[in-house]
Amino acid sequence: ASDNRAVMTDAHELLAKLYHHYLLNTEQGLKALEYLKNRGFTDEVISRFQIGFAPDSWDAATNFLKRRKFSLGLCEKAGLLGTRDFDGKFFDRFRNRIMFPIWDRNGKVIAFGGRILGSGEPKYLNSPETMLFNKGNNLYAMHLSRPQMRKKEQAVLFEGYVDTIAAWRAGVENGVATLGTSLTEEQAKLLKRNVPSVVICYDSDNAGVEAAFRASSILQKAGVNVRIAQMPDGLDPDDYIQKFGTEKFNRDVIGASLTVMAFKIQYFRRGKNLNDEGERMLYIEEIIKEISRLSNAVEKDHYLRQLSDEFNLSLEALKQQQFLTAKQQK
Ligand code: GTP
Ligand code: MN
Ligand code: MN
Ligand code: MN
Ligand code: MN
Repeated sequence: ASDNRAVMTDAHELLAKLYHHYLLNTEQGLKALEYLKNRGFTDEVISRFQIGFAPDSWDAATNFLKRRKFSLGLCEKAGLLGTRDFDGKFFDRFRNRIMFPIWDRNGKVIAFGGRILGSGEPKYLNSPETMLFNKGNNLYAMHLSRPQMRKKEQAVLFEGYVDTIAAWRAGVENGVATLGTSLTEEQAKLLKRNVPSVVICYDSDNAGVEAAFRASSILQKAGVNVRIAQMPDGLDPDDYIQKFGTEKFNRDVIGASLTVMAFKIQYFRRGKNLNDEGERMLYIEEIIKEISRLSNAVEKDHYLRQLSDEFNLSLEALKQQQFLTAKQQK
């Protein structure tokens, strides 16, 4: 079994080189290269992240692996090839896609994410779970970012490949990404082993904010100090950097990230008219619910006082309500 793993890893390593070559040195790769350049990918970043292109072919990878004497059955198990239903013939899983290698902790390629050129479905085709690749145990770009993570004693967590790479270009070299799934306990522990604190920098759409809340609670349970970065509505980190530049991203997004509670306070206020009694009460209820989830008594006291001051409410009443809410949630 460990032999099989080594063979599968070799196949990934060689294919990553092949895809990279297709992107940089072939006619077929030109369109993809142009697309990447238009999105701001530099030569340096393309080489650092080993970005490649899978040609629009059913057998480019298959023939390559066959010539190299790989067992195609094993390559199928590794998620690189598919087989036709009617005759069992092997074919390339990744076709006409920009290829992002996914590495293990030691920098060996163990999977791929393939992005369609332009629009279309599915936007990303990723390797399936295999003997080599367990999505929930891996973070994209971990081995590249670990040195800066350790140095800065902080990691930045993104949703996707492109955001991690755009941020790297902007000088944020301690970024990693979950790969389209929600953060797992294992990933949180992996981060905790490397850094005391994490800045979550997810897309600023509803899905991204909800995912950030879930991720923050998983990270906090793992003992990680969490901050959440905020961007104007609807943008993701890559969009933001394209629009406002790298300096502003560092200063106003990463540098201005908020504690989870401060982020929630801003988030729950959004679009509410706090002069309206009903909306105000709803807001206070939401915040009390969040306060009741805090484990630190001093923090609880701090935010209750803040509410009491802002809305001129009795601290005693707020404390009592917080206590009742906490009890209900048990
Ligand atoms: P761009 O559109 O190229 O800027 O990518 P993005 O990173 O902004 O994409 P998005 O925010 O839609 O998704 C974030 C991450 O979720 C991606 O990097 C993928 O890992 C994953 N993802 C997105 N779409 C799909 C999909 O259609 N299938 C799968 N399997 N994963 C996806
Ligand atoms: Mn999406
Ligand atoms: Mn998204
Ligand atoms: Mn996005
Ligand atoms: Mn994007």
